[in-house]
Amino acid sequence: MNSAEKLRSDRVVLDVEAVRREFPILRQEINGHPLVYLDNGASAQKPEAVIEAEARCYREYYANIHRGVHHLSQRSTAAFEEVRGKVRGLLNAPSEKEIIFTRGATESMNLVAYSYLRPRLQPGDEILITAMEHHSNIVPWQILCDQTGARLVVVPISDQGEISLDDVAERLSERTRLVSVVHVSNALGTINPVRGVVELAQARGVPVMLDGAQAVPHMPVDVQALGCDFYAFSGHKLYGPTGTGVLWGRYELLESMSPWQGGGDMIRSVSFEKTEFADPPARFEAGTPNIAGVIGLGAAIDWFQALDPAAVAAHEADLLHYAAERLGAIPGLRLIGTARERAGVISFVMDDAHPHDIGTILDGYGVAVRAGHHCAQPVMQRYGIPATARASFGVYNTRSEVDKLVEAIGKVRELFGG
Ligand code: ALA
Repeated sequence: MNSAEKLRSDRVVLDVEAVRREFPILRQEINGHPLVYLDNGASAQKPEAVIEAEARCYREYYANIHRGVHHLSQRSTAAFEEVRGKVRGLLNAPSEKEIIFTRGATESMNLVAYSYLRPRLQPGDEILITAMEHHSNIVPWQILCDQTGARLVVVPISDQGEISLDDVAERLSERTRLVSVVHVSNALGTINPVRGVVELAQARGVPVMLDGAQAVPHMPVDVQALGCDFYAFSGHKLYGPTGTGVLWGRYELLESMSPWQGGGDMIRSVSFEKTEFADPPARFEAGTPNIAGVIGLGAAIDWFQALDPAAVAAHEADLLHYAAERLGAIPGLRLIGTARERAGVISFVMDDAHPHDIGTILDGYGVAVRAGHHCAQPVMQRYGIPATARASFGVYNTRSEVDKLVEAIGKVRELFGG
């Protein structure tokens, strides 16, 4: 039994109708049809608990943090700092001091690129990624390669959308300075064998960064069990506010890194002769952060943890399995990404309809999916297609919504003569 089958066989304890009632945005019709929101991979909707936590901060105790002796500043600071502990718990990180708040997973990866990797790169050094990365796990490294003479090495993916650990092992070399791999692919849904990647890399002394943007909302994540060195995720995909994200890093690595942005709050002392930087995490949090957003992220984490990430994973595994079966039976529809271990996402193309047409027609029936390259153009190139239509699931989705997706795809077939 693989882990996806195991998840489906676990008892689903989630009361999805009760969960749905917590999301005000879901109670609406789009184009005369009840909204079926299947674009959670791009961004998830927000429960009342998150909306209220952010609004309450602004209504009751908002002020800048780490800077005031006055009551409101102290309250805001305490509420903001409390979220570090919540993130620590979510990821089972060893210490709160290893949690850095960013604008999102993209910024977290750029932080590692500029603060960790760039000073360590020499011409001819290598950065190992896979062919299924999001642009945010390609472009920052490419920029570094242009600046330093290092090069990107890419692990290929199979027709199913899987990487092989043999291919990873073959491409690790004495020149590899970092391995950076997506935990769950946003375009294909593949759950990568990241523990195996970490073992291979660390046996050669190479640190590993994991892009967890599509993993954290869909499954329990334990950075100590994964054994990685850096882990990134975005708040807005975890039912939290936009403009919030996290970088977790091992403290000894963070301590060895220079800041990537200078400004207020990241220093110990400043004079025109010399500036001393603060310890992590403050060293990497220059300027006024997204205070209310981070407090909202804390509410999202509490809310998500109360549901139980394992129950969420089991519910979504059932939806994905059901969707794959129903979509897979539609003539002229091809699933892109059929890995054995998948989460969250189902991508497809149709013989006669462009993904943008599919997306537009589905919208006419109230079904929201993403159509395009999903910020993963090399994945599209790998499959020789310009784009896919992608349904991506959240905890509030149901089998009956999958049925509505399938019905709406039927309309696409009627229109395009399938
Ligand atoms: N990375 C996000 C997606 O997959 C925006 O849609």
